[in-house]
Amino acid sequence: MSDFCRMAEMGTDIARAAQLLREGQLVAIPTETVYGLAANALNADAVLRIFEAKGRPHFDPLIMHLPDATAVRGHVQDIPPQAERLMEAFWPGPLTLVLPKRGHVPDLVTSGLDTVAVRVPSHPMTQALLRQVDFPLAAPSANLFGHVSPTTAQHVNDQLGDRIAYILDGGPTDIGLESTIVGFEDGRPVVYRLGGLSVEEIERVIGPVQLVLNQSSDPKAPGMLKSHYAPRIPLHLGNPAVLLPLLEGKRIGFLGFNLPLRDMAAERQRILSPTGDLKEAAHNLFAYLRDMETMDIDAIIAEEAPDTGLGKAINDRLRRASVQQT
Ligand code: TXA
Ligand code: MG
Repeated sequence: MSDFCRMAEMGTDIARAAQLLREGQLVAIPTETVYGLAANALNADAVLRIFEAKGRPHFDPLIMHLPDATAVRGHVQDIPPQAERLMEAFWPGPLTLVLPKRGHVPDLVTSGLDTVAVRVPSHPMTQALLRQVDFPLAAPSANLFGHVSPTTAQHVNDQLGDRIAYILDGGPTDIGLESTIVGFEDGRPVVYRLGGLSVEEIERVIGPVQLVLNQSSDPKAPGMLKSHYAPRIPLHLGNPAVLLPLLEGKRIGFLGFNLPLRDMAAERQRILSPTGDLKEAAHNLFAYLRDMETMDIDAIIAEEAPDTGLGKAINDRLRRASVQQT
């Protein structure tokens, strides 16, 4: 997929990225979580191009990116006290807040909801970019709809290179999982998506939160869609000792947490973190999944990470990628 006619212009020219965004064009941006596909959030024509480029249904709302909490306040209202404390503790960083929107935020960004998802990313390039434009950037992850999120500029180019004006290359993303999404229902905090900020860290600041993880395939429940990422090669999640006999006769690749399998060739295995570090595992997860999709194998066996901290978000993504998901 990397013949040159599909290439987008790629570089580190923030002023150029800002100019293209002012013109209503699409620019891929680095964040600390994953790469985003950005457009001027207040220009509905530009936002429409995001949906077209990704093949994303209009009932899946977007996140607005802003340089700081002060800028966020211009687009939302009635911020609950607990949201204030989360902003204070975790912005800039991998936290998205769902808050009541102000009237000027286009319906296309929010899929007609009266709330909008907002976030302040910490990547220095995108921080600088957000300060050069006078509008928020609507940006979903910069992958085709239904695929795993990109963690390098090259991943973006592979899938979307022929559809976007410019890719701002900020190197491999630090965290490697999307932001954690928190909203409020009847004044109580609710986690809608596990991500780069762990539930434990959130609870340390505001106390117990409820998990209402995106489970729906119903377009009438925008923001609640269950993502259906399915790797090209079927992924089976569980204990390799149990799964290997069930998949006998197939060529298997193994995505392990910290230890390789003894009886399998090393080139068919990817180990998320040999030292068992959840941060390192999160950082590697999406790149390794992409990599394994190019292997000459019939099935992937993946094992779960320890179900704590970032491990919960890693396991959530593995479950969504697996054939045994319910
Ligand atoms: O880390 C991230 O969040 C990345 C980077 C680029 O910022 N962005 C990202 O965007 O993951 P995306 O579009 O792939 O996921 C955004 C999700 C939507 O699918 C939806 O579930 C949720 O945010 N969302 C957006 N607006 C919402 C709303 N008003 N209420 C509830 N959920 C909402
Ligand atoms: Mg996405």
